[in-house]
Amino acid sequence: MQTGIQTAYLAPEGFVAPLVQELQGEVAVHDRLVLSPLAAQRTFWAQNVWLEPQVIAIQSISDAARNLKALQRNWWLYSFDLHRRARLIQDKLPHVSARPVAFPSPLPASPLGSWTLLDAHTLLASARCSSPYPNGELNFIEDREGPPSRAYLKLWDAWTRLQAHPQAGDFCLDAGGSPGGWAWAVAKTGARVLSMDRSPLAPQVASLPGVSFEQGDIFNLRPETLARREPVVNWFLSDVICYPEKLYDWVRGWLESGMVENFICTLKFQDGADYAVANKFADLPGSQVLHLFHNKHELTWVRLAPGPAITNRPK
Ligand SMILES: C[S@@+](CC[C@H](N)C(=O)[O-])C[C@H]1O[C@@H](n2cnc3c(N)ncnc32)[C@H](O)[C@@H]1O
Repeated sequence: MQTGIQTAYLAPEGFVAPLVQELQGEVAVHDRLVLSPLAAQRTFWAQNVWLEPQVIAIQSISDAARNLKALQRNWWLYSFDLHRRARLIQDKLPHVSARPVAFPSPLPASPLGSWTLLDAHTLLASARCSSPYPNGELNFIEDREGPPSRAYLKLWDAWTRLQAHPQAGDFCLDAGGSPGGWAWAVAKTGARVLSMDRSPLAPQVASLPGVSFEQGDIFNLRPETLARREPVVNWFLSDVICYPEKLYDWVRGWLESGMVENFICTLKFQDGADYAVANKFADLPGSQVLHLFHNKHELTWVRLAPGPAITNRPK
């Protein structure tokens, strides 16, 4: 039986290596679940963090279910071994829905714990986790007609976690916006969006109300130039394919301009990347760096305007 586990980190599919690389101390890796003897650490590559894992000895399947129910109602299984036994335990627990959610939706109201079987007679269970979604998986009811790419799911993911999104009449800059998944998502909120890219938007997005497009190199756009037309950028959105270091330097200028309220920027990494730049983004005051469920070999830097919830901003 393993003891001395203080936190557990569930890596996104295919990203155990960067998660293990960023964790301090000796860890035990069970498929995508990484167990640590240390208190919670800053991580970028965790899909869900088990914040209070308890090791619990169990006599039987019923005893396991009894122990979990004594802690709280809602549990989700992450199974790396003994799948059948684990499933029999989960089946004795109250039903938890994992149905895809609509956008927009509030965060789940009830806490969701995570558990696994370390061996046939030992549970690892954490009533408190970083994500309210099953194994950190935020699945949406998708729109397969409107958007020209599935990239819009990243924005929906970020906006849902933040519980903030553009409001009707807001102005959004969409850097690297082609073919237009993000512009489509902004247009659906009723906000205005200026999309810039070297490649055009898909015609069905370019013709949506509130969408405008300019072709060119986004890194040539400076805050003082845009400010002549749009003095406030309510949402600065970037999904540009570029080195994160280049994005950092560019974004600093926009931060310093004071004209941007909220930022959501994808940091795109290549194979064998050095992830140190993620710390530079995370160290910018008021920032978070996340691996969204809909991110691939990417992280998302988010910085919201300080103050009351942006969804309730008075007009
Ligand atoms: C991942 S795609 C964006 C997808 C888009 N967010 C969507 O929802 O459909 C990245 C885009 O960055 C654009 N891009 C890369 N470098 C650029 C640059 N220097 N200036 C403008 N666009 C650039 C590419 O042309 C590409 O369309």
